[in-house]
Amino acid sequence: MKELPPKLAEMLSGFRASRILLTAVELDLFSALKGGAPARLVARKTETDERGVTILLDALASLGLIRKKGDSYHNSPATAEFLSAGGRNDWRLGIGHHMALWESWSHLTDVVKTGVPAPRPTRRSEARTKSFIGLMHQHGSIRAVRLAKAIPLAGGRTMLDVGGGSGAYSIAFARKNPRLQVTLLDVPDVIPITEKNVEAAGLTGRVSFLAGDLRSTGFGGGFDLVLVSAICHMLSPEENLALIRKAFDALAPGGRLLIHDFVLDETRTAPRNAAVFAVNMLVNTEGGNSYTAGEYRRWMKDAGFGSIRFRRLSPHSDFLLGTK
Ligand SMILES: C[S@@+](CC[C@H](N)C(=O)[O-])C[C@H]1O[C@@H](n2cnc3c(N)ncnc32)[C@H](O)[C@@H]1O
Repeated sequence: MKELPPKLAEMLSGFRASRILLTAVELDLFSALKGGAPARLVARKTETDERGVTILLDALASLGLIRKKGDSYHNSPATAEFLSAGGRNDWRLGIGHHMALWESWSHLTDVVKTGVPAPRPTRRSEARTKSFIGLMHQHGSIRAVRLAKAIPLAGGRTMLDVGGGSGAYSIAFARKNPRLQVTLLDVPDVIPITEKNVEAAGLTGRVSFLAGDLRSTGFGGGFDLVLVSAICHMLSPEENLALIRKAFDALAPGGRLLIHDFVLDETRTAPRNAAVFAVNMLVNTEGGNSYTAGEYRRWMKDAGFGSIRFRRLSPHSDFLLGTK
């Protein structure tokens, strides 16, 4: 019998490092390490078992995520900045969404056998929405600025942001285009979070809100730009064609549809993030997937769009732009 090849062995046990890190964030361990702390103090602050937290802390140190000096544990620059209270780039809220994904991904084998998505995660729905939209805001705040810069609006005055989520994209486009008025559509649970983000960005009045369902709520008409960011992957091909047709109808003549998503190449096996993300949609949606630029082009052409172009803007940020 030979040992497993190292790459295979590493992937098979990769879940351990991931789970150790998720649990540390879930217990808010890195906040408890501020200034350095021995395990007994960390256990007290996080209301955990001392033996349990000691083993976890040692494992975190062995993974290079924190440092151990004598009996005391200290954050690394990365855990201090990204994973602890008061960090300059605090990602803890959004990481809550990964905990929900851990639950749904645990059903992957059954999902592949049956084709039925995983049961909804057990965490409270309001907390789930907050962490999901929080994660979208954290990713979006960075990607949206790049996207708004890449798409000059050339005098366009109105935009519809379909499934606009946290508002990160509406905010970036409104900031980049001072005369732009944005309408953001999302489900009723999400809109109050979006409203707060828009207010915090100082853009009250520049963004209006439509609480509804992108499948059934009317989009209105006469828009210069319709943005569909990170939406198509949660829909089936038939639903995407219907959505793109609806976007076409909502545009003024000469208006443009901007689809922003993870886009597969024609082999469907690259880029890796898009291929692996497809599994996330398999587990969590009825008909979602990652799609190829060819599929998007076909739907856009069928809906009536012309001069369709595709661009990979940055890793995790691809777009298609078509004109009515
Ligand atoms: C992956 S997030 C993308 C958010 C945002 N467009 C972005 O790129 O950051 C998907 C968004 O679609 C919204 N959504 C899901 N189903 C919807 C539906 N049926 N109608 C309207 N919005 C929906 C979710 O609430 C969420 O805000």
